[in-house]
Amino acid sequence: MTDLFSPLRLGAIELPNRVVMSSLTRNRAGEGNVPTDLMVEYYRQRASAGLILTEASPVCAEGHGYPRTPGIHTAEQIAGWRKVTDAVHAAGGRIAIQLWHVGRISHPDLQPDGAAPVAPSALRPAGQAVTFTGMQDYVTPRALETAEIPGVIAAFAQAAKNAMAAGFDGVEIHGGNGYLVDQFLRSSTNQRSDAYGGSKENRARLLLEIIAAVTAAICNDRVGLRLSPVTPFNDISDTNPQATFDYVVGELNRFDLAFLDILQGTGGSPQEQWLPFDYARLRAIYKGNLILNNGYDFASAQQAIASGAAAAIAFGRALLANPDLVERFRRGAPLNQPDYERLYVGEEKGYTDYPFLPA
Ligand code: PHB
Repeated sequence: MTDLFSPLRLGAIELPNRVVMSSLTRNRAGEGNVPTDLMVEYYRQRASAGLILTEASPVCAEGHGYPRTPGIHTAEQIAGWRKVTDAVHAAGGRIAIQLWHVGRISHPDLQPDGAAPVAPSALRPAGQAVTFTGMQDYVTPRALETAEIPGVIAAFAQAAKNAMAAGFDGVEIHGGNGYLVDQFLRSSTNQRSDAYGGSKENRARLLLEIIAAVTAAICNDRVGLRLSPVTPFNDISDTNPQATFDYVVGELNRFDLAFLDILQGTGGSPQEQWLPFDYARLRAIYKGNLILNNGYDFASAQQAIASGAAAAIAFGRALLANPDLVERFRRGAPLNQPDYERLYVGEEKGYTDYPFLPA
């Protein structure tokens, strides 16, 4: 029987098990948004996961929206990530980097030259940005000119090449959670009148052009995609998410990606609170490997794999707090609980100090 401990091939990446580490922002990068030795240790500790998806990592300077998030657009960042991938590989693991552009979920304090963040349309998100001086209200972003869009696409393609130079096994394009690609995809944040706005076909154009460029740059079998059809996180919504994402996922079949990673509902919320959406329909439309993510435990993950709903399950909080999650699942051992006070602060505390099971 296929279960969480069964091997799986995602494109060119061979996983010994189906426990995937979800991308998790941890805000421990160093000066210049360069990965640190502490980050090397954090990822090395989690190398027994079938596949690690790194924290979201901006593809260009304008793609940053939070302090201390590691980028993949400078030589120093590539060198820092190389230490991470070497350590994970030496420990027997596999690791793909999540490629990110935050779009409007930023602040002039985090942007080059204090400029306004960029977005599909000049619509200010509700809420506040995390900045170096504390929380500050989001500002009205600047709508990207049509002529600037090739530059955004090129930044993703270059970042994918940088990821290969840094020794990653693959990349995951971040198309979810209300960040730039999702701001184009979903109707509430996209009021453009050019070829990148309006119909679902136009709203999906940026994503599909990014995928075309990234797969051309590094080959389709090392490229995955994150989507989150209904999360309202970062003040975003769609008037008809099923139609939008049925279309997007159908188009993905052209690219034969390594995997599609879907965040169901809202990050962290119980299933009763998820906005209505038929994930089985996406499963039926999509011809490739599907990773599902949101609050799965061992039993529900086993069930999702046994039923064919997912090829693998991504765990966030569980892997954050249990570097040896695969072994704990094998032994039926109790799990450490995450230290929610130290998700985004605390250096090694709540980061690299979660206990392993005794040998
Ligand atoms: C966050 O930093 O809060 C964050 C980043 C990327 C996500 C979700 C949340 O996809």
